Amino acid sequence: MKTYRDFDRYLKEFPDKNGYFGRYGGAILPPELVPAFQDITAAYQEICHSAQFISELRRIRKEFQGRPTPVYHCDRLSRHLGKSQIYLKREDLNHTGAHKINHCMGEGLLAKFLGKKKIIAETGAGQHGVALATAAAYFGLECDIYMGEVDIAKQHPNVVRMKMLGANVIPVTHGLKTLKEAVDAAFEGYLKEYQDAIYCIGSAVGPHPFPMMVRDFQSVVGYEARAQFLEMTGILPDTVCAAVGGGSNSIGMFEAFLSDPVEIVGVEPLGRGEAVGDHAASMKFGKLGTLHGFESILLQDEQGEPLPVYSIASGLDYPSVGPEHAYLCECGRVNYDVVSDEEAMEAFFLLCRYEGIIPAIESSHALAYAIRRAREQDTGAILVNLSGRGDKDIDYVFEHYGTGERFFKK
Ligand SMILES: Cc1ncc(COP(=O)(O)O)c(C=O)c1O
Repeated sequence: MKTYRDFDRYLKEFPDKNGYFGRYGGAILPPELVPAFQDITAAYQEICHSAQFISELRRIRKEFQGRPTPVYHCDRLSRHLGKSQIYLKREDLNHTGAHKINHCMGEGLLAKFLGKKKIIAETGAGQHGVALATAAAYFGLECDIYMGEVDIAKQHPNVVRMKMLGANVIPVTHGLKTLKEAVDAAFEGYLKEYQDAIYCIGSAVGPHPFPMMVRDFQSVVGYEARAQFLEMTGILPDTVCAAVGGGSNSIGMFEAFLSDPVEIVGVEPLGRGEAVGDHAASMKFGKLGTLHGFESILLQDEQGEPLPVYSIASGLDYPSVGPEHAYLCECGRVNYDVVSDEEAMEAFFLLCRYEGIIPAIESSHALAYAIRRAREQDTGAILVNLSGRGDKDIDYVFEHYGTGERFFKK
């Protein structure tokens, strides 16, 4: 079991040169893709040490994305719940409405550096798709976005936004028609044109170097939040939490706090319950396996095939998790817990009514965990990564939950 004291040199040591975090990660690729991934790794190593790249990314973040995003104290909500204080890192205030733009602009710069014409990706909730379509428009690149038919119906506003930004949205019609199938299809699309295109995976998953790159691009969230929280309160938070789909917003938030005496919690979706196909709680019910070119914790059957998954949040229903999370869980530095659809939706409506903020359903999972803790404990400050805003969700929520009156009648 490792504590925060063991994490001083962590970023220098993980991942190793083959992209492993302990036994998780790597790049398990068809032979024809190996050179393409080696080129991406070499290009990333070069540009991430380049002053020109770093200053260009900083300029984009400030002038185009609207960073730094603020940390906000939920005063009314905290008083309603008890004595703990809930704070939000407002990634919902990013241009395009979620944290995904943090790695998409970095990946866009990398695509330009590599001389690629097209960027390809999958999307679940549509936030990564919108962010990548935005990066494509910004950098003058073509853009193909693969999206499951179920998610296309559920996240209609984001589909329209991607199309308006000039992206080609390709419906995925096989299997459960959600995020996992979209990743399968995007990989197949990439295989056909890897010489001219780059696959900008939407989370801290996939073959090395993507989990590392996405983490590095997202770590701005945690470093900003740590400094802002210290400035606001003079101390560090007691607990930091974030929702975990593939794991990009959470790893970006956690990295800055690993060597601090702070409790860190990743929140996975329990959906409708513990039965197979009713949740996407990979860390709770999964075991070591391989999917989409990397080794990690995977919800799988006896044959190692991924199990069907479900969450009300389209961005969280993935049967695996980024390899760095699997490592941080195994060594005991980060705890992982689960939140059901029902708890997430209560959190969604509480934030609307008590703070005037409509959160993404994905982010509502992290908030629901903070609310549960605030009801249980007498003290403490909980910093939640509010990874995105809920504009994309309002039609779906209104149709299924109305204005949430039943959550206020308890
Ligand atoms: C707003 C928001 N938060 C969280 C997630 C989950 O992804 P990740 O775990 O990569 O942050 C998504 C995915 O689409 C999302 O749109």
